Amino acid sequence: MPAINVNLPAAQYRITIEPGALERLGELSRQAAPHDRALLVVDNAIAESHGKVAERSLQVAGFDVATVPMTANETLKTLQTVQRIYSVMLAQRLERSSPVIALGGGVVGDVAGFAAATYLRGVPVIQVPTTLLAMVDAAIGGKTGVNTPLPEGGLGKNLVGAFWQPRAVICDPQVLSTLDVRHLRCGLAECIKHGMIGDAGLLIAIEQDAGKLLAHDLDVLTSLIIRSAAVKIGIVQEDERESGRRALLNLGHTFAHAIEPIAELNLHHGEAVAIGLCAAAKTSSLLGVCDDAYVQRVEGIVSAVGLPCRIEKSVPTAQLMHAMMYDKKVVDGKLRLIIPVKPGEARIVENVPQEIVEQAWRQVGAS
Ligand SMILES: NC(=O)c1ccc[n+]([C@@H]2O[C@H](COP(=O)([O-])OP(=O)(O)OC[C@H]3O[C@@H](n4cnc5c(N)ncnc54)[C@H](O)[C@@H]3O)[C@@H](O)[C@H]2O)c1
Repeated sequence: MPAINVNLPAAQYRITIEPGALERLGELSRQAAPHDRALLVVDNAIAESHGKVAERSLQVAGFDVATVPMTANETLKTLQTVQRIYSVMLAQRLERSSPVIALGGGVVGDVAGFAAATYLRGVPVIQVPTTLLAMVDAAIGGKTGVNTPLPEGGLGKNLVGAFWQPRAVICDPQVLSTLDVRHLRCGLAECIKHGMIGDAGLLIAIEQDAGKLLAHDLDVLTSLIIRSAAVKIGIVQEDERESGRRALLNLGHTFAHAIEPIAELNLHHGEAVAIGLCAAAKTSSLLGVCDDAYVQRVEGIVSAVGLPCRIEKSVPTAQLMHAMMYDKKVVDGKLRLIIPVKPGEARIVENVPQEIVEQAWRQVGAS
């Protein structure tokens, strides 16, 4: 059974990546968090399909399970939803060792993880990611959280949260058969990012198998998940709390956060990250760090999986620069960016000159 162990100073857990693992959820959950009661938080979109398989498996393994369905939507990734989960936890009389099982994409994982981190000052959570993005990224590393209304209006993304490592992560690549190709592509953006920061071979694999990946080929997807998750695990093991190397995982994200909220662009997170990866590569080339051939290669991989390299509508560079300065990763108004160096290697650069970033924005289509 393909499993990777995560070893952190205060937590050790196993990530199982195996077609059919959902059928064994009960048994695997029992090994990770033995108790007689459990709470299953499930994405509404898959409650009737994968949710039922999960529920049955948990019951067969002897859990008395209560289920909370939730809609995976950023506007519902809030403390109100967490409150709703607490109510069911109380009604189910969950105790300190009763596990919460999060079955869904990153939204469900973050919300259920945060509820688990805070209920009774922390109960076990088992992450069962059902999107590619969550399998290779969100479910690994213990970040949980919700969005919060900002004083100036709108929602601040992931501003309230906790580090809460899961007891286990259980990935069944078969569940991706129901995921639409647009969301599959969004997960591929994070896989490309992982290749760029830590595994040059992963980039070659994506280049070679782009067609099979988009066709939901189970074997190719499974090896991609194993390889991509390994990059995130490696980084989290070195830097659990993002005091150093973990920041590399933000490659492309400071750019992405500037364009993602622009409604007219209609970009999903992974699509914004794809443009962000191209912009980060352009920045690197403008700084004389990576060569142009690598920039073109990144654009080629992004395009090969059907992700955008450029902003398709006119957006003023000044607006994007303003948004970037408000990103929570910006320290003291100084632009700190992650830039690619060569395949499999990226670096943190402090004080990137604004003119360079402006130029990079224009090269990816900003006006
Ligand atoms: N905690 C972390 O480290 C971390 C890292 C990256 C992203 N995130 C968070 O993750 C979220 C994004 O995650 P996401 O892309 O998984 O989004 P998501 O949870 O919104 O899922 C995307 C869509 O896919 C649907 N879906 C999920 N699984 C499905 C399946 N198997 N079949 C069919 N449909 C399915 C959902 O209903 C939803 O419509 C964001 O809120 C982001 O902040 C967290």
